[in-house]
Amino acid sequence: MTQTDVALLRKYNVPGPRYTSYPTVPYWDRTPTEAEWIDRVANAVASDTTGAGAALYLHIPFCRSLCTYCGCNMRVTRNHGLVMPYVQSLVKEYSLYLQRLGRDRLAVGEIHLGGGTPTFLHPEELDALLEGLMSRSTVTKDASLSIEVDPRTTTHEQLVVLQRHGFNRISLGVQDFDPRVQDIVNRLQSEEQVRTVTEDARALGFRSVNFDLIYGLPLQTLDSITATMDAVVRLKPDRIAFYAYAHVPWIKPSQRRFTEADLPEGDAKRALYELGRARLEAAGYVEIGMDHFALATDDLVIAARQGRLHRNFMGYTPAFSRPLLGLGVSSIGDAGDAFAQNEKNLQQYEERIAKDELPIQRGHLLDAEDVVLRGHILDLMTGLETRWTAEERYTPFLDSVPARLAEMQKDGLLDVIQQHGETRIHVAPAGRAFLRNVCMAFDARLIRKAPATQLFSSTV
Ligand SMILES: C[S@@+](CC[C@H](N)C(=O)[O-])C[C@H]1O[C@@H](n2cnc3c(N)ncnc32)[C@H](O)[C@@H]1O
Ligand code: SF4
Repeated sequence: MTQTDVALLRKYNVPGPRYTSYPTVPYWDRTPTEAEWIDRVANAVASDTTGAGAALYLHIPFCRSLCTYCGCNMRVTRNHGLVMPYVQSLVKEYSLYLQRLGRDRLAVGEIHLGGGTPTFLHPEELDALLEGLMSRSTVTKDASLSIEVDPRTTTHEQLVVLQRHGFNRISLGVQDFDPRVQDIVNRLQSEEQVRTVTEDARALGFRSVNFDLIYGLPLQTLDSITATMDAVVRLKPDRIAFYAYAHVPWIKPSQRRFTEADLPEGDAKRALYELGRARLEAAGYVEIGMDHFALATDDLVIAARQGRLHRNFMGYTPAFSRPLLGLGVSSIGDAGDAFAQNEKNLQQYEERIAKDELPIQRGHLLDAEDVVLRGHILDLMTGLETRWTAEERYTPFLDSVPARLAEMQKDGLLDVIQQHGETRIHVAPAGRAFLRNVCMAFDARLIRKAPATQLFSSTV
């Protein structure tokens, strides 16, 4: 990296959201009642004129052991007795939605099992869960059915069950291949384990394999990232999420189990990303949005080129399925103009399901300004560009955005083009590293009320 790059990284490295939603979760302040939420969900179902169908996200919170960097909503347990009651609650929650919507089945274009660790479930438990979902859904022709798996706990029998239910995408938690890094974060897993699951999934017909990797973990160096990327390129997944390590020890105390002195930070952390990106691009991968890569033939790259890329709580997707129903503890649903998050506590979640209630704990009804700003932030996160006029995609808050971006424009990170009554923001290649900062200029809620304590990880 040049000295200018380093100076820019230092200048713009501030705490900031990752914008999987707008407004971001800490700023939600208008929780819908169950009736309001169902009303918004029903509208989203009715407005699906393209037949894309709804998306279902199912959260499986259980993990066998703790990876100390983990920022996910998860629960380490050896008590397998928790699983079947939870599976039954998930299926019942989906039935409650159908009942409230007055339907027997729902058209579904996307299903994602995330966690925690969905492969904590034994094959027969997975089968019961998927049977419960599929018997109440009409899956669209090109549906994307995906699961996050931990290669240390994934068996051939589980993959067979998934394949039998039509699952076609799989995402492996890899993180890093360096034994020293794996040791300090308590996650030992060999290249061989990752290769076995990858090859098994491909042989069974899964059409896309994703690897999750993280940069900024303790003890990572340029050499260790080089070795990790060499192994990744050998295994050639179709997609790669190369996440910035989110260090939030005030929320996740287990991140205090390694010393902060071992964490590469600021420009040292970004140098790891730049090196990884160069290795991946040399191997034929294309960078997408923020932190993501895919082979040039992958749907995600094609969708990005055609301006169809979408981003939701599950990451980047080529399909625009709505509503998103979040089932299970802590899951978030999205109806376009409303969000709803479920109870985070397993017992409370199950108790509410047992009482035939939708287990909504909090959420947000978007106002007109939220909806407009959400559209701009989404366009920036997916296509690195957005535009508006006084008549279209406009809200008065936007008048202040160009002044807020002037400094970044001066630094060559983006262009603000104002002509023929239209304002267009275009993020330059050098600005991609600061996409979160660009979005922050549109974040009216953050600007009006800066957090009193640190809520977000650093933008770099
Ligand atoms: C639910 S896990 C994936 C499935 C499975 N639990 C596993 O780890 O193999 C989701 C992903 O979140 C990412 N992740 C977890 N904690 C993170 C953190 N603190 N910062 C950035 N990414 C994180 C990891 O890449 C992880 O693979
Ligand atoms: S990274 Fe995955 S396996 Fe590790 S603790 Fe988090 S959710 Fe569980």
